[in-house]
Amino acid sequence: MEKEKFYITTPIYYPSDKLHIGHSYCTVAADAMARYKRLRGYDVMFLTGTDEHGQKIERIATSQGVTPQQYVDKIVAGIKDLWSAMDISYNKFIRTTDEEHVETVKKIFKALYEKGDIYKSSYEGWYCTPCESFYTEHQLVDGKCPDCGRDVEKLKEESYFFKLSKYQDRLIKHIEENPEFIQPMSRQTEMLSNFLRPGLEDLCVSRTSFTWGIPVDFDPGHIVYVWLDALTNYITALGFGSENPELYNKYWPADIHLVGKEIVRFHTIIWPAMLMALDLPLPKQVFGHGWLVINGGKMSKSKGNVVDPKVLVDRYGLDSIRYFLLREVAFGQDGNFNNEALIQRINSDLANDLGNLVSRTCGMIEKYFGGTLPEEQDGTEFDADLMATVASTVEKFEGYMDKMLFSDALSELWALIRRTNKYIDETQPWVLIKDETKKATLAGALYNVCETIRVISILIQPCLTRTPQAIWAQVGIEEGELTAWDSTKTFGLLPKAVSVKKGEALFPRIDMKKELDELEEALKAAQAEAVANKMKQEEAAAEEEGETWEEITIDDFCKVHLVTGEVIASEKVPKSSKLLKNTVKVGDEVRTILSGIAKHYTPEEMVGKKVVIVENLAPRKMMGEISKGMILCAEDKDGNLSLVTNDKMFDSGCDVR
Ligand code: ME8
Ligand code: MG
Repeated sequence: MEKEKFYITTPIYYPSDKLHIGHSYCTVAADAMARYKRLRGYDVMFLTGTDEHGQKIERIATSQGVTPQQYVDKIVAGIKDLWSAMDISYNKFIRTTDEEHVETVKKIFKALYEKGDIYKSSYEGWYCTPCESFYTEHQLVDGKCPDCGRDVEKLKEESYFFKLSKYQDRLIKHIEENPEFIQPMSRQTEMLSNFLRPGLEDLCVSRTSFTWGIPVDFDPGHIVYVWLDALTNYITALGFGSENPELYNKYWPADIHLVGKEIVRFHTIIWPAMLMALDLPLPKQVFGHGWLVINGGKMSKSKGNVVDPKVLVDRYGLDSIRYFLLREVAFGQDGNFNNEALIQRINSDLANDLGNLVSRTCGMIEKYFGGTLPEEQDGTEFDADLMATVASTVEKFEGYMDKMLFSDALSELWALIRRTNKYIDETQPWVLIKDETKKATLAGALYNVCETIRVISILIQPCLTRTPQAIWAQVGIEEGELTAWDSTKTFGLLPKAVSVKKGEALFPRIDMKKELDELEEALKAAQAEAVANKMKQEEAAAEEEGETWEEITIDDFCKVHLVTGEVIASEKVPKSSKLLKNTVKVGDEVRTILSGIAKHYTPEEMVGKKVVIVENLAPRKMMGEISKGMILCAEDKDGNLSLVTNDKMFDSGCDVR
C-alpha cells in the first residue's frame, strides 16, 4: 500500500547569528510533528530554510566588508549546524538564494503580471536619504527614521503591486468554509475581523531602493520585495515551475504551515491569495504558535537568562531542551522561558519521574535477579489498572499529537510515568523479595514495569531524540518490532526474560542554586566580552569614517577621478526637500547628478557654478533618476554645506589633483 503523504513547513528564517531559543521553538515543534507522522507510517516532507534577501542583509554585509552572498553563506552554515545539534530531521533546506528558487520566482512574477494580477503604480512612503529606504508612517519613530533617527521626507517610488483586494471575498469564503484552515481558532477570528472584513489593500511587491534581491527581469531596477520571494519557497523547494516538479506533484498542498503568530496574516491572506492567482490549491492548515518570552518581554541576552540554544544544549543536553520547549508552553499561546523554570522541569519531570523510573527498575532487576528476569511470572492485583492506563494513554497521546497539542500529549505521558512509579510503590518489590514464595509475583511486577517503560520509550520518540535509545540499551529492548509505534497497542510483547544493564542516570539532577549562580557568572563574563567587542567594532567604524585613517598611496588616490564641471541647469526633485537634480557639463559630456543640497542652495544659485565632481563614481538610481557622479561639498560641524569650486573659473573637464 502506498504511504499517505504529509508535508509540514517552518517559516524560512532571516539569516542571523543571534538565533535564540525562541527560534528553535518552532523548528523543534515542526520536527516533533514530522517524527510523529513518520512513526505513524506517513511519507513525510519536512521543509525548513532561510529567507536571505533584502536591504537589511545588504547593509550588514556592506558594513562587514563582504558581499551579501558571502555574509549569508556563513550565517546559513551556522544555522544548519544549530539544527543538526538539535536533531532537526528536515528533509529539505531551502535558501531563497538557490538558483532554482530565484528562477521560479521570476517566472511567477511575470505570470502574475501577464495575468493582470500584478500592475505597476507608485508607492508612497517616508524616505530617509542616508539610509536609502522607505518607511510607512507607522514605522517612523517620533516622525524620524527608525534606523538612523534623522529627518525623513514624503516621497513616491515606482512599484509593482499585487491585486490582493481582488481575492478578499474568496478568502473570506474559504476561511469560513474550512474551519481547519487557520488554527488555533482565535487567530482565525483575528484575521477575519481585523484584516479581511475591514478590506484589503493591494500589496507592494517590488522595490527600487536596493539591489540584493531577485530582479524583475522585464523591468531592470525593480527587485521582488519580501513576501512574493519568501512565501513562494514552500512550492519552489518542491521544484514547482522547474523541470523536476515531482516533489511538488507529490507533496503539495502542504498539510501544515507552522508559523509564529506575527506572520499568520501573511500566511493566511497574502499566501492563499497568491496561490489563488496562480490557480494552485491552498495549504490545508496554517498553525500560528505563540512566542517564547522572558517575563512577558521579548527574548534578549540582557535579561539574566541564557537564551542561546547551543549553549543550552551543551549545558543541559538536547532532550532536556526539547522536552522543555514542547512541554512548558501550551502550543498556540505565549509561554515564559527562564533558566529557573527549565531547571525545575529537568529536575522534577526528567530526573525524578522518568530517570528515576528507569534506574530503580534496572537496579532492582540487577539486585534481585542478577540482571535477568525469570520466565516464571505471576500477576498482581494492580496489573489491570496499570494496563488500562497504558492503553488509554496511547490513545490520548495520539489524539493530542494529531492536533499538535504537544504539551497535553506529554502531560498525559507523564501521568503514565507517575502511574508506573506508583505501581512500584503498590507492589512493593522490596517486601516481595523477602518472601521466597513471592518470587514469580515479584518477577511479574517488574516485567510489567519494563513493558510500560517500553511503551513510554516509543511514545516519547517524536519529542526526545536521544533518550529512547538510552532506555532501550538499559532495559534490553532491541530496536525493531518491539519499538514500532503500533506495538504500543499490545501489552506484553516484550519477551519475559528481560535482561537489563543499568547505565548512567538519564537525567542527572541539577543543584538549582549552584547552577543559577554559575549562569549569572557566565552571563557577566559574556556581557563583558560583548562590551569589549562592541568597542572594537566602534573603533573600526570610526576608522572607516576617517576619524583616524589609514595612509593611502598615490596610486590609491589616482583611482578617484576628480574633474571640474559646470552646472548648466538645476531643479528640485519633486516631493524631495533635500535633492536637487543638476545638469552638469564635464568637457564634452553632459550628465545628471543628484545632490542632497536643496537646503543649502536654490536651483537658481546652482546654475553657472564651477564645481568639482567625482567622475568615476558608479551610477546610482535615486528617486527614479540615474545619478552619475558626485558634486563635492565641504560640510561644517553643524551640517552646513559649501560647494568646492575652482577659483580661477577653469573650463569644465579639467583634471583635479
Ligand atoms: O519572520 N518565540 O523570519 P524570522 C517563538 N523570514 N517563536 C519565535 C520567537 C520567539 N521568541 N522569535 C522568533 C521571518 N520566532 C520571515 C518568515 S516565511 C515565508 C518568512 C519565530 O527569522 C517567528 O515567530 O523573523 C517566526 O515564525 C520564525 O521564528 C522566523 O522568524
Ligand atoms: Mg520576524
